[in-house]
Amino acid sequence: MLALLRSPREIMFGPGMCAALPWVAAREGSKALLVVDQHLANSDELNEMLHQLEKAGVETAVWAEVTPELPSELAIRATDFARDLDRDLVITVGGGSCIDLGKVVATMLRHGGTPSDYYGEFRVPGPNVPLIAVPTTAGTGSEATPVAVVTDSDLGTKVGISSPELIPVVAICDPELTYSCPPSVTASAGADALAHCIESYTARSRTGDADLARERVFVGRSALTDSLALEGIAAIVEGLPIAYADPLNARARSQSMYGSLLAGMAFGTAGTAAAHALQYPIGAETSTPHGVGVGCLLPYVMAFNRSERVEEMARIARVFGAEGDDDALSRRAPRLVADFLAGIGIPRTLGEMGVARERAGAIAASGLRAVRLSENNPRVLTIESASRLVEAAIDGDLDSLMGDAPLAAPVATMKETS
Ligand SMILES: NC(=O)c1ccc[n+]([C@@H]2O[C@H](COP(=O)([O-])OP(=O)(O)OC[C@H]3O[C@@H](n4cnc5c(N)ncnc54)[C@H](O)[C@@H]3O)[C@@H](O)[C@H]2O)c1
Ligand SMILES: [Fe+2]
Repeated sequence: MLALLRSPREIMFGPGMCAALPWVAAREGSKALLVVDQHLANSDELNEMLHQLEKAGVETAVWAEVTPELPSELAIRATDFARDLDRDLVITVGGGSCIDLGKVVATMLRHGGTPSDYYGEFRVPGPNVPLIAVPTTAGTGSEATPVAVVTDSDLGTKVGISSPELIPVVAICDPELTYSCPPSVTASAGADALAHCIESYTARSRTGDADLARERVFVGRSALTDSLALEGIAAIVEGLPIAYADPLNARARSQSMYGSLLAGMAFGTAGTAAAHALQYPIGAETSTPHGVGVGCLLPYVMAFNRSERVEEMARIARVFGAEGDDDALSRRAPRLVADFLAGIGIPRTLGEMGVARERAGAIAASGLRAVRLSENNPRVLTIESASRLVEAAIDGDLDSLMGDAPLAAPVATMKETS
């Protein structure tokens, strides 16, 4: 058996837990940069947070300019601001874009350079400025992961910075902070979390070589990530539809946030796969949120991978209450997930998201270049098979992907971009 896990040094979860921030911050530093999501800028909550931090002896400067999908130039400007003020701690309170901004700032504040110096895996040379992450969406799990995703306008795509040094020192998860999420954000963030669970639970597995964790940030599935991912799926399946329909439902918000935390812990070590690889170019082409793209793709990726993960797909179907033998259930799982996500407003097809059929090949080729993701997929992705997958997702044709016939051999060389 193989079991690997990387995570924050301390995770604090529960309604009202945000009140711990001042004493946790005072323990980690004395001059904080507080990166806050735009929905908190100029709010009473932010003023109260600042007041409590000052009372705890933490001098705090606020950076409130965060835009979704995180342009890399923003990270450069925020770092310059923090450096001028000699900050020794970064606190980030917001959605995934905001937490990722905090991660990149904490890296550049300690090690200099620009975001592109750190694209790829293991490029951060040592510990960052300490980072405390406080999520306000139940989605990315970024509070627990070793990755930040930025949009590089020169490359015209999203790029990952992946290093264990990016994992926040402390994650403070307070479901009450998600009550204000509108249904669209609840849905896209929740779909992302479900995709993290399912992609890590069905990811490729590798042998337990002692060098594995220093050769790869995302090492594939293992016993620890499987158990987190499965529990995450159950929490999200129960909580997310209720949180979407009834934003102030305390139990549903807790379940959704707990699920997204577990999802982050699972994929932060195991890694994600084809749905995430293919979302990058689709997000760039359609300007749609990350979670909408991965949510739309997820059932098709599950159907494509089914023949390699029959038992796992069947277990996923059982979380939805389905009964039967493994083979039959594995064929039902993609449809169950598709119906679940459609119920929270995620588009059923890439066609609905505005992706034209003639773009399938280009999207497949671009997705395959995210090698850390595409090679983590349990079924080998080739240009041909990935194009077929994208075409089926454009057309809404789940059944055609459910076959068992092996596809063509992998392409020999793929250039890594993230
Ligand atoms: N680092 C990781 O591990 C990781 C994993 C998956 C995705 N991502 C990245 O995270 C980003 C997506 O993050 P996200 O889904 O959390 O969305 P987001 O951070 O982009 O936020 C979406 C919108 O919701 C608003 N918002 C956030 N919290 C709110 C609240 N409590 N109330 C009201 N509005 C609120 C934001 O201001 C923003 O307008 C993408 O850039 C994606 O690539 C990162
Ligand atoms: Fe994601």
